[in-house]
Amino acid sequence: MDILNFFLGRAFFRSAGSSRFHFCLVVMDSQENSPKKVVVITIDGPTASGKGTVAQRVAESLGFHYLDSGALYRLTALSALQADLPLDDVTAIAALAQELPCVFRHGRVLLAGEDVTDKIRTEEVGNTASKIAAYQPVRDALKALQVSFRQAPGLVTDGRDMGTVIFPDADLKVFLTADVAIRAERRYKQLLENGFPANIDTLRKDLEDRDKRDSERKSSPLRPAADAVMLDTSSLDIDESVQRVLDACVEKKI
Ligand code: CDP
Repeated sequence: MDILNFFLGRAFFRSAGSSRFHFCLVVMDSQENSPKKVVVITIDGPTASGKGTVAQRVAESLGFHYLDSGALYRLTALSALQADLPLDDVTAIAALAQELPCVFRHGRVLLAGEDVTDKIRTEEVGNTASKIAAYQPVRDALKALQVSFRQAPGLVTDGRDMGTVIFPDADLKVFLTADVAIRAERRYKQLLENGFPANIDTLRKDLEDRDKRDSERKSSPLRPAADAVMLDTSSLDIDESVQRVLDACVEKKI
């Protein structure tokens, strides 16, 4: 498609973490009359598979934007806990997700002005996130916000359903896995490093429960997309895992 076939269009979008709508320019394809496809790389996988760190590093290396979709479920969970909502009140929780007053700035996350970067990383919030993520209305409420992160020059995103549901036309889909004992060990170290007390046996049990819940739920279950590249990181360190994803990008001409 040559350049003459494109024109500049205008659109409103809700930027990362803002509940306000912003004006932006998008490149439109005059023949298809649809926004030009911005490159997306999705990295899905089970809890503590290293997908967040790998996705962030790949985004930095390519100069792309990064979306941690799990953070949105964690923010919704924290909002529900703070509001003392019963966790089976699907309508109220979906309403919270719809109007999530969150801002992502310089690696920090604000919720209604409060810096909650560390608070959303606790196991209590993670387990609550996994419970409310099973509700379809909550997932629907967060969809537009996730899609709005797709901005030039490209996006790297991690989660459970990035390649299957949110960005089914992604240019590269990776599914990261790792042995459960190794994932429990990684999460244990991560929690201790961040100053949270942790017990490895409890962690492993929580992790297995969370995997089961995420994989068996009806709405957007955790599973690899049919066209995903499978990457087992059990015996790989972060640098090696990042390199494998970058190699896959080269193969896909990204
Ligand atoms: O860091 P960890 O992998 O444990 O979790 P996370 O990515 O922060 O996500 C927290 C929870 O949100 C997960 O257990 C999932 O249940 C849910 N989630 C989801 O359902 N869909 C996503 N795209 C991302 C997270």
